[in-house]
Amino acid sequence: MSILRSLARTKSIEQSIRDTDEPGHQLKKDLNGFDLIIFGIGVIIGTGIFVVTGRQAAENAGPAIVLAFLIAGLVCGLAAMCYAEFASTVPVAGSAYTFGYAALGEFLAWIIGWDLILEFTLAASVVAVGWSGYASDLSGIPTSFDVGGWTVNAGAILIVIVLGVLSTLGTKLSGRVSMVIVAIKVGIVLLIIGVGAFYVKAANWTPFIPAPHAVPAQETSIGHEPLTHVVFGLEPSQYGLWGVITAASVVFFAFIGFDVVATTAEETKKPKRDMPIGIFGSLIIVTLLYMAVSAVITGMRPYAELDTPAPLAEAFRAVGADWAGSIISLGGVIGITTVILVLMMGQARVGFAMSRDGLLPRGLSKSHPRFGTPYVMNIVTTVVVAVLAGLVPIGTLEEMVNIGTLFAFVIVSIGVIVLRRSRPDLPRAFRAPWVPVLPIIAALACAWLMVNLTVDTWIRFLVWMAVGVVIYLAYGMRNSRVGRAEREGAATPEPVGSGPTASTGGAGGTGG
Ligand code: ALA
Repeated sequence: MSILRSLARTKSIEQSIRDTDEPGHQLKKDLNGFDLIIFGIGVIIGTGIFVVTGRQAAENAGPAIVLAFLIAGLVCGLAAMCYAEFASTVPVAGSAYTFGYAALGEFLAWIIGWDLILEFTLAASVVAVGWSGYASDLSGIPTSFDVGGWTVNAGAILIVIVLGVLSTLGTKLSGRVSMVIVAIKVGIVLLIIGVGAFYVKAANWTPFIPAPHAVPAQETSIGHEPLTHVVFGLEPSQYGLWGVITAASVVFFAFIGFDVVATTAEETKKPKRDMPIGIFGSLIIVTLLYMAVSAVITGMRPYAELDTPAPLAEAFRAVGADWAGSIISLGGVIGITTVILVLMMGQARVGFAMSRDGLLPRGLSKSHPRFGTPYVMNIVTTVVVAVLAGLVPIGTLEEMVNIGTLFAFVIVSIGVIVLRRSRPDLPRAFRAPWVPVLPIIAALACAWLMVNLTVDTWIRFLVWMAVGVVIYLAYGMRNSRVGRAEREGAATPEPVGSGPTASTGGAGGTGG
């Protein structure tokens, strides 16, 4: 079999759905549309609005940070339509990875999966560091310690371990916990909007888009410039319309998570109905909340003063509403917790799906006999995220998360068009409108945000992807279940029951 053929082999949708019934590798189906909205809001609202908003208003957009949120929200909305169509057609764990396997071939699926691992693992780590900072701020107790010249973020390690255990005990338990937390989080955001509105001074909103101004070359480096600036030979600058676009590509971080909703399709009772409800419901709610919060905050304080570690709480303290500042800090700590939890769950599920397909070692996709959770993958995820968050200085890598996510969106959008052509017969509970125009616009919009991220981010992203290609060629390509089935003689794997490939999973692969 030629290499090119293996790179392009697809896993049939029917096979993907059948695999979810494989004994010892199954997940429990007990989430509905409402659970998904809660789940979505639980992961979406976090460090993005609590921290990144202030920095981007101060550095790039001014009060027009409201527009940056609108732009980022619209781009997400376009991508969400493509996500929702895919999720309602391929209701199995693994999100864009699984969709990619069905539509675009094994190699691109691997690339997406590898990319999602980057998104989830790094996002969970970045957010855990943010959590630890808020926790320290709130309690007055330091959460980072110097151990032999190495900074150990004990707060981040602790929260990651606690959440790793929770998600291993079962989605329902974690879901209940996150419902209470989401209620608190949305309550805090509404408090910011409701109370903050009384402190708004319209003068702070002028100029709405601050005039562009050049940044002296010695104060910046090429690596810190957006790729577009370098490609078009633009002078390093702040603010203006370019600044709003740059801010949009960074505050995009605040929306990350609605795509994680799609990774739970296999655990959803009626995915065809519930996935679109979950994805759109959470996205619309947070976009409105973000725009309102950023309008209020930039109205309360001059934008240049918003670049602080806890800008939302501090805006209230600055106007004398200390009581609100403290409640917001507490809300920040509680609210950010669910973001870490859901990102870790998303990571575990993508890894689970990739392992079940043989692209990662099969032992990783054992599900827990009692809790029905991907516990091996949970443990691996917990350890990796705890090490990254606890020992590596990664607080500013949110752009890496964005580029990974946007790249996945580009591929999913293109995948919708491909799958409409290759499998027009499949039932689609949700159909994206105006195909192929809308997916093309979605892909271009995501690509546009990508090229507005910095050169450093691009370099790191390309290195990560290159490592992924090497791993695929060395391991995944040989161990892929679809590939094995092909080699064993069946053109498309049509196993009887769980079929011979189910037993190739190595030690204990089907235990439970
Ligand atoms: N959207 C998530 C956050 O803002 C990742 O923290």
